[in-house]
Amino acid sequence: MSSKDWPQRVAIVGAGTMGAGFAQIFSLAGIPCWIADVDGERAKVSRAGLIDLARRFEAAGLLGAGETKRIEEGVRAAPSVEAAVDGADFVIEAVTEDKDVKRSVYSIIEAAAPERAVVASNTSAIPIHELAEFLERPERFLGTHWFNPPQWVPCVEVIPGPRTDPAVVERAHELLRRLGKRPVTVGDAAGFVANRIQFAMFREAALVVEEGVATAEQVDEVVRASFGFRLPFFGPFMIADMAGLDVYSGAYRTLEADLGTRFRVPSSLQGLTEGGRTGAKAGGGYFDWPEERLPQIVDHRDASYVALEKLLEQLQPSNPRADAQGEV
Ligand SMILES: NC(=O)c1ccc[n+]([C@@H]2O[C@H](COP(=O)([O-])OP(=O)(O)OC[C@H]3O[C@@H](n4cnc5c(N)ncnc54)[C@H](O)[C@@H]3O)[C@@H](O)[C@H]2O)c1
Repeated sequence: MSSKDWPQRVAIVGAGTMGAGFAQIFSLAGIPCWIADVDGERAKVSRAGLIDLARRFEAAGLLGAGETKRIEEGVRAAPSVEAAVDGADFVIEAVTEDKDVKRSVYSIIEAAAPERAVVASNTSAIPIHELAEFLERPERFLGTHWFNPPQWVPCVEVIPGPRTDPAVVERAHELLRRLGKRPVTVGDAAGFVANRIQFAMFREAALVVEEGVATAEQVDEVVRASFGFRLPFFGPFMIADMAGLDVYSGAYRTLEADLGTRFRVPSSLQGLTEGGRTGAKAGGGYFDWPEERLPQIVDHRDASYVALEKLLEQLQPSNPRADAQGEV
């Protein structure tokens, strides 16, 4: 079977927030899917909920006319996990973030699914090698970490375990791209990439509030309107290169003196700065910055920021948090 015909049938085990979103995506891609939860009743309730939500999306123009009907036709609520995975080529596990729960679900899946089935976990943070130990066919197991709401957020982290067959990783990549996602294969460590960074930021945000430096509303407004404003276009390394790595090093020294060693200058940053690679202005930092490309990047940056600010103004009237943000 060519990879564009794969999978013929999907099973989603755990029909909560994430599982329901997956069902929308697969059914709209024309791939029939079965959803299962702790019992058939929960699966039925989830199916009804995701169809209601699809109606709202369609009314708001987020889905095209008739797409709710396609979802209704493409998603079935299974009476059990066994029934859902019977005959499935691809199984996504999206049950509660608990290793014991996931372990018990994998043994049911492997007993009832065809041997060819690929099993993907949507775990947020549990290393895939730890989960892979629970599987009898770890070569057909990997992590695919989506983001809420999975219908709309483009990135999916793909995490191979130590024994995952590379062909399985490639197939998962192709499928995700076909579904309109932006898969990125990353290494297997707690929290992978996104949650490790996101949770580090959240911890610091909580400390800022707990120490009385700012309120939660103020933190949210500052983050959204400052470095968060740049993030749709540039990741942390591009941003650091543009700011200047010598500037970053100096800021880290101040932060470390006051806030402790969690703000120690990262060794890669120190090495680059000491070697004179201080970022865009020096022709190189984490990335190379050829002089002739710099104006293009700056023009793109500035045009992007102006366009984003206009988009935010346009969306402001429909933002239910607009009043709260206005108070800050
Ligand atoms: N919510 C998010 O933002 C998010 C984002 C990325 C990844 N994840 C991960 O996805 C997974 C699911 O998260 P969620 O937010 O959808 O949780 P959720 O609580 O909304 O859904 C989990 C579902 O699993 C079901 N379940 C529990 N035990 C089960 C079992 N033994 N058999 C079958 N179903 C069972 C629950 O009844 C529930 O419906 C977790 O691993 C979570 O860490 C969540």
